[in-house]
Amino acid sequence: MSTETTENPQAGAAHGTVPSGIQDIAFATGHYSFDLAHLAEKQDIDVNKYYIGIGQETMSLTAEDEDTVTMGAAAAQRIIDRNGTEGIRTLLFATESGIDQSKSAGVYVHGLLNLPREVRTIETKMACYGGIGALQMALGIVARNPEEKVLVIASDVARYDVDTSGEPTQGAAAVAFLVQANPDILAIEPAQGVYTLDVQDFWRPNHRNTALVDGKFSVGAYLDALVGAWNDYRAHGGVGFDDINWFCYHQPFTKMAVKAHVRLTEEAGTPLEKAEAAAALAPTFGYNKQLGNSYTASIFLGFLALLDSDEEIAGQRVGFFSYGSGAVSEFFVGVIQPDYRDHLRAEEHQAILDAREPVDYDQYRALHPGTMVQPLDNYKTQRQTESPFRFEGVDEGSRIYGKS
Ligand code: HMG
Repeated sequence: MSTETTENPQAGAAHGTVPSGIQDIAFATGHYSFDLAHLAEKQDIDVNKYYIGIGQETMSLTAEDEDTVTMGAAAAQRIIDRNGTEGIRTLLFATESGIDQSKSAGVYVHGLLNLPREVRTIETKMACYGGIGALQMALGIVARNPEEKVLVIASDVARYDVDTSGEPTQGAAAVAFLVQANPDILAIEPAQGVYTLDVQDFWRPNHRNTALVDGKFSVGAYLDALVGAWNDYRAHGGVGFDDINWFCYHQPFTKMAVKAHVRLTEEAGTPLEKAEAAAALAPTFGYNKQLGNSYTASIFLGFLALLDSDEEIAGQRVGFFSYGSGAVSEFFVGVIQPDYRDHLRAEEHQAILDAREPVDYDQYRALHPGTMVQPLDNYKTQRQTESPFRFEGVDEGSRIYGKS
């Protein structure tokens, strides 16, 4: 992997257009954290299966009065506090933990944040790919009118049934970011590699809180999609493997990214051993190891961990691979901008992680909602979260949100 910078850090613009990409980015998560040591103890297995084998340490859990809307609003509030709302005419909310079959979760966030009415707000869905799909739509809007900005939120709660292979990979988080012309953090290059194949590796029917997954098959489907998206990226003008300084993968569990990088280096003709691949990706793991899978938000949390790390990456290229089960995937590259460090929030992010309340196994089980969605049209939630926003309950079928 090259450590050189690109000659033109503003690289990223298609011929004749203004470079666009990420101006600011922040995350939020659930109120509770659950150490996988408690799960391993309950299952009477070696915790290193989780800490080392899948590369996960703790997972975030949402409180009764939190969901994708409250986490998304909390992350987006930080973006608005720093940047204001001027120029934002689109809000894209990516999630696969939908709270309504019709209304976009983004509209609730729009209300909680008192955003201007002159905004279009929609929800995107394609498993974990939904966030990158939203980013690509945002880039299209900004390319059409570089005066406009797009607020993107990727927010998910990952839940599997208890006592299944997916259980240790649960988690919860939201990432919000601002897409605009001449961004200060990441300018995204025009080449894209895309790949869709109808596979049944992971899905969540409407009546379930928890996803169904064919775990081992999903790992293979992810790796096949990576090769497909990479080859399409190269066929559409993408730079070579050696021109990319860092790789940021969707991380359902961090070891998945290591498997992916080994496969990509084989495909690129410069194979790395597992340990070498793990070392190359290590700066992208910090947040996802602590938060668990956050589906649409996961790839951005890998990117945030890299930004917030001690690595000096100005002018360097980051390759992104997004995989959404089912399956849609994409590979693309962005260039870190010269003054990116002026826009980071590393201390804020550490404080968010540290503020989580740890729970034991019994508390974890009490928070797990079970498999089936309960058909309740009226209920109130207990006050648990310390987030600025609360999910207060359901009133005659309508979800009610409020400020804390
Ligand atoms: P499993 O079958 O229980 O685990 O679950 P395993 O037995 O394969 O062990 C895992 C690793 O731990 C192995 O290493 C073991 O050797 C190692 P590997 O061979 O993989 O390198 N191990 C140990 N290491 C150290 N000390 C020990 C020890 N014991 C074992 N004592 C599985 C694995 C991935 C199937 C499971 O976690 C799962 O079902 N996860 C959910 C599905 C998933 O995350 N799939 C990923 C690809 S699909 C995707 O990314 C999309 C997704 O995010 C959804 C979306 O798009 O919306 C899921």
